[in-house]
Amino acid sequence: MARIGIVGAGSWGTALSHVLSDNGHELAVWSPDVNEIEMLSTKHMQTDKLPGVELDPTILYSTDISKVVPDKEVIVVAVPSPFVRSTAERMKPYVNDQQIIVTVAKGIEDETYKTMSQIIEDVLPANATAALSGPSHAEEVGRRMPTTVVAAAASKELAEYVQSLFMNDYFRVYTSPDVLGVELGGALKNVIALAAGISDGLGFGDNGKAALMTRGIHEISNMALSLGAKDVTLSGLSGIGDLIVTCTSVHSRNRKAGYLMGQGMSMKDAMEEVHQVVEGVYAAKAAYHLSRRCGVEMPIVEQINQVLFEDKDPRTAVGELMHRDRKAEDAGLTW
Ligand SMILES: NC(=O)c1ccc[n+]([C@@H]2O[C@H](COP(=O)([O-])OP(=O)(O)OC[C@H]3O[C@@H](n4cnc5c(N)ncnc54)[C@H](O)[C@@H]3O)[C@@H](O)[C@H]2O)c1
Repeated sequence: MARIGIVGAGSWGTALSHVLSDNGHELAVWSPDVNEIEMLSTKHMQTDKLPGVELDPTILYSTDISKVVPDKEVIVVAVPSPFVRSTAERMKPYVNDQQIIVTVAKGIEDETYKTMSQIIEDVLPANATAALSGPSHAEEVGRRMPTTVVAAAASKELAEYVQSLFMNDYFRVYTSPDVLGVELGGALKNVIALAAGISDGLGFGDNGKAALMTRGIHEISNMALSLGAKDVTLSGLSGIGDLIVTCTSVHSRNRKAGYLMGQGMSMKDAMEEVHQVVEGVYAAKAAYHLSRRCGVEMPIVEQINQVLFEDKDPRTAVGELMHRDRKAEDAGLTW
């Protein structure tokens, strides 16, 4: 059994602490939020985000990162993507080169357009890094409902080690060498979830949502492939799998934010209403810039950016998507 530190004690850090304690590992969890740590230490429950999920009372909780990071074999980074770089910097004085870092955050960094593992490799270049991603809402994992994810790492040994740490009878972990594909799928599906939520908020039906999801994964795949990701990854759990769950689930904060915008709320108000970081908003901006840089056409991403950052009416955005030039579904297919 391993000694594992988890940085981030929100929905996902807590749900993963549940999985890892079920697997018999020794755990310490960090959060910068005093109230969160007080609640977890005294109630052994994330009462705000995972009510009813009883946690192992032996888990140590602290706001002091020097009590959580040293002496662990593995550190799981479970803070929202905009905080991954600053959290890695905060960890740095206490990290030794032998520790394995597993990122479970989903996003692309503003300005640098780096994935989460690329950020961690920037800050902690000597450490082996893996990414864990897939269709996995914390609310279900906390209740031990069947869930499948992918552990991606540059080396097979590392991916299989991460698989062995997390896998159990309700949490099935596959391995993959395609770290970039796994991370891009996880980050970019949030943009399409915003669009699916807007569609729901406007009162449109299942046809439109299926179209957004299908054309959405098409856009994501085109962009990810141009950056070096593999096609099979985008049609796997961390690609289409995560896209389906995020676009359809009541637990998705990105879908919910989109829904509120579809109902007429501004982006700022929708983000406040959701109470958690809406990572799709950041990923949308990054995806737009990346699509320009790679010369990949991403019409849904482009319209979402205009709705988010240029106050475009979502109905106008839908109209413009419907009136794009006639084309073949896939330009690569020939008669
Ligand atoms: N919630 C899920 O079901 C789920 C599933 C898979 C992946 N993820 C990913 O995991 C990551 C974390 O998501 P979450 O749902 O746990 O988020 P959350 O908002 O529930 O929790 C985030 C944690 O980060 C802490 N935090 C807040 N501000 C911070 C800061 N400035 N610096 C460092 N830490 C800060 C919070 O105190 C909390 O402990 C995200 O990237 C998300 O996409 C979430």
